[in-house]
Amino acid sequence: MASFRLFLVFWGGKVLYFGPWRLCWRLLYAIIIRYDRKIGVLYQKTSGIDLPDGSVFGRFVMNLHFVANMEAQTGLHLAVDKVPRHIAVVMDGNGRWARQRGLDRSAGHRAGVDALDKTVLACRRLGVKYLTVYAFSTENWNRPLAEVGTLMSLLSEFAVSKLARLKENRVEVRVLGDLEGLPLLQRTALKQLMNVTAAARLIKAAGDADDDEGMVLNLALNYGGRAEILQGIKRAAAELSAEELQQLTEADFSRYLHSGEQPDPDLLIRTSGELRLSNFLLWQLAYAEFYFTDVLWPDFDEAELFRAVCEYQQRDRRFGGVQAVK
Ligand code: FPP
Repeated sequence: MASFRLFLVFWGGKVLYFGPWRLCWRLLYAIIIRYDRKIGVLYQKTSGIDLPDGSVFGRFVMNLHFVANMEAQTGLHLAVDKVPRHIAVVMDGNGRWARQRGLDRSAGHRAGVDALDKTVLACRRLGVKYLTVYAFSTENWNRPLAEVGTLMSLLSEFAVSKLARLKENRVEVRVLGDLEGLPLLQRTALKQLMNVTAAARLIKAAGDADDDEGMVLNLALNYGGRAEILQGIKRAAAELSAEELQQLTEADFSRYLHSGEQPDPDLLIRTSGELRLSNFLLWQLAYAEFYFTDVLWPDFDEAELFRAVCEYQQRDRRFGGVQAVK
């Protein structure tokens, strides 16, 4: 049953607002969007807390609003201090989604890009620091030429059309996989996207008041987990002496993988009811919690992500030990 809570706001001895709390959030949200910078300056003057960018305050309130909205929609409660740092996703089911609607598979992939867009922003709102999505595997080259062509076109479109939004939301895009094996157009567009978003994330993080480090979006492209491990072994063998190789630890070896210094995923989500890893992040997923859902990827949205994160928070992560790791 939908919850209906009333909200009372007092200001200067007067009742400023009395009504449904969701409406109150919506009003506040609209005001923040409209007067973001001015509110930031006012907040700075009254609190003495330095907010060089007025949008910091807006972002904080918008994130709160997002969580409140998701809690109302799903009936679940989020522990804000237990949000996974890194989420990995196998975005599966685009083809079936299209077939169910009598559409071409390309329509499914196009709808898949919209679902990715929603997921990126929702992760940002929840405070996830790394999101890794399986966008094109080394095996996907075996699909019909037309479908490979559609996926490549979507990729270059994505790199161009999402650049401004990703930059604004301080999301840095990286590629895991063999970027040089992609066609020139896609390679060029992706390199531009990676360079611009990396620079924007760095500059913002340096001048920001609330230590917000932004988020990393890893696109696993032309990616295969076994090939990644094999390449890591070859790189380590080429760089290290026999003695250094003997002393190589798991943590040291991780740095030879595409994911480099990034933390391992805490949560793996796979959509469309398939229960496989499909050669995805074989090394990095060693201790991840797995979440499988029947929802097809184009139907995956903010609420589905919220459900996955809340279920993750119920898991008892032991990392091979007997006690839950807090
Ligand atoms: C699997 O669904 C999905 C893929 C192979 C591609 C995933 C790509 C996207 C979500 C969009 C493109 C991404 C970017 C970054 C532009 P499937 O086609 O195997 O579905 P099916 O199992 O139902 O046939």
